Amino acid sequence: MEGSNQRAGRLILGIETSCDETAAAVVTPDGRILSNVISSQAELHARFGGVVPEVASRRHLELVVPVLREALAEADAELETLDAVAVTQGPGLVGALLVGLSAAKAVAWANRLPLVPVNHLHGHVASLYLQPEPIEPPFLCLLASGGHTLLIDVAEPGGFRVLGTTLDDAAGEAFDKGARLLGLGYPGGAAIDRLAREGDSGSYDFPVARVHGLDFSFSGLKTALLYTVRDLSEDELERRRADLAAAYQRAIVRALVARVHEAAEQNAASRIAVVGGVAANSELRAALPEAAFAPLPLCTDNAAMIASAARYTEAVPFPGYLALDAYASG
Ligand SMILES: Nc1ncnc2c1ncn2[C@@H]1O[C@H](COP(=O)(O)OP(=O)(O)OP(=O)(O)O)[C@@H](O)[C@H]1O
Ligand SMILES: [Mg+2]
Repeated sequence: MEGSNQRAGRLILGIETSCDETAAAVVTPDGRILSNVISSQAELHARFGGVVPEVASRRHLELVVPVLREALAEADAELETLDAVAVTQGPGLVGALLVGLSAAKAVAWANRLPLVPVNHLHGHVASLYLQPEPIEPPFLCLLASGGHTLLIDVAEPGGFRVLGTTLDDAAGEAFDKGARLLGLGYPGGAAIDRLAREGDSGSYDFPVARVHGLDFSFSGLKTALLYTVRDLSEDELERRRADLAAAYQRAIVRALVARVHEAAEQNAASRIAVVGGVAANSELRAALPEAAFAPLPLCTDNAAMIASAARYTEAVPFPGYLALDAYASG
């Protein structure tokens, strides 16, 4: 039986402000999402063609309290029913992170609760541990987002070991830069995904970089698109935009899939999982039918995944967390 009494004192409030999403969520210790509120600032940053850190911080400041209130209200939770407050400590934009971290400290301190500082990348992996279809380690995981492209070995839910990373752009960054070159606006991954469905992926042959080991490289691909677009008239670009999107997306997906298969073989991985914003890509999902993908709403930044990761992260007891700082990378 599920009732608010049973839940009392056993809820985790998650807060995420590492980039341009202000998010808060309430999750139970067994990984049920009671609320997952995300306020995206994408429109605000679109006119600049990317996230402007100072603009993001100011907007987080305006949104964090209303988003927190909404997450608690949707979950039918009171501050008194919380067990812990989880928050993204890094990596991300430091000014943006500090807004969430300060809000988390205030809520935790005022209610004498422990605070759980969560690594954002661990958060992306922990999107797989949530109900209704959680998957359990061990698995090989591709984490492909706006800032990272990692192949990781996940042996237990509390951490991971990096097997490969990008030497330059992240996969999501490659999508965003490609979208910009094609005049599709920001953020571009979903726009390329949509447009690619109308195009012929075989009409252009973009290179897939071969780099050492299990690492990735996407900057050459972006340059290849730049040169191709530069040689087209505006009319031609208009006519070929869908073909370019399809061929460009195929090159990124091929690079990711090839590395995933190599890593799976080298590590004798019995299971493969994919997380992060690029895990929302329909061609990638179709190209790895054997893999477990993060549920679509949990691919891009959200706070449910942060609360989920907190279940496997050491909490800092009240009041020892007031001096905790945010970190940009690492
Ligand atoms: N359908 C899609 N196809 C391809 N890329 C997508 C799709 N949907 C979103 N993305 C990409 O996902 C990225 C955003 O993902 P996410 O929110 O996980 O990244 P981030 O938080 O900015 O980066 P990080 O997690 O590395 O700090 C963007 O680059 C966006 O273009
Ligand atoms: Mg992210």
